Amino acid sequence: MFIGNNLIELDVVDSTNNYAANLLVQTKLVSGTAIMTHFQTGGRGQRGSDWISEPGKNLLFSIVLNGHFINSENYFLLSKAVAVGINEALEDVSGKTGFVKWPNDIYIDQKKIGGILIENQWKGSLLEVAIVGIGINVNQVNFDDLQGVTSLSLLGSKNYDLKEVMAKVFEKIEFYYNLLKRGDINQINHIYFNHLMFSNEWKTYDSNNGRIEGKIIEVKENGLLVLKLRNKELMTFEFKELSFIL
Ligand code: BTN
Repeated sequence: MFIGNNLIELDVVDSTNNYAANLLVQTKLVSGTAIMTHFQTGGRGQRGSDWISEPGKNLLFSIVLNGHFINSENYFLLSKAVAVGINEALEDVSGKTGFVKWPNDIYIDQKKIGGILIENQWKGSLLEVAIVGIGINVNQVNFDDLQGVTSLSLLGSKNYDLKEVMAKVFEKIEFYYNLLKRGDINQINHIYFNHLMFSNEWKTYDSNNGRIEGKIIEVKENGLLVLKLRNKELMTFEFKELSFIL
């Protein structure tokens, strides 16, 4: 195992992604270095949102990964590999079926249990290093006003050992990262699609042009989602251009 072999544990930090980025300015980090914390004062989510988590209850970590075999056209493959890895780990731990909601949220029982924020550093068109930030709701049971959120503890009615869950997540991400590195891209695409929420089902979505009915038939290696409409027309969406109705 190389992920988590070098593990930095912090009591509190603004954001593990920021901490990793600051470290990378000062020094080189061995691929697989992981930074975990028990509390973030400025946890960040996708699209500029906050990631809020009760102290000591959840997994909050970032993994630094070498991405030299990934380029700007297929960069989303790394996101797919990470998402299916987390999903599989959480399925193992919870005994429930998980789904990846495009682009890369992890859902169980139609509720969000984990999120991913990948921040890429490029050298030309090649990915030099990726900071893979992961938040997983583990032992928190009270989410106040947050709707549509769950945790391992809510699903399993017990507490989980954070480090054990994290080790499982490391193991599964490492497996899929290695597949990607070997060039086993079909397998990553296949598994991602098989675990993708609503894939191959007729569903209604909210788009910039109002409600739209379609079937997800593909998520491309650059992250674009392809929807097939009833009239057989194909429409492609970027992040934020399509929202799910759960
Ligand atoms: C999302 O679903 O919006 C992504 C959430 C990502 C949260 C994690 S927690 C560890 C790492 N540090 C951050 O500030 N964000 C990520």
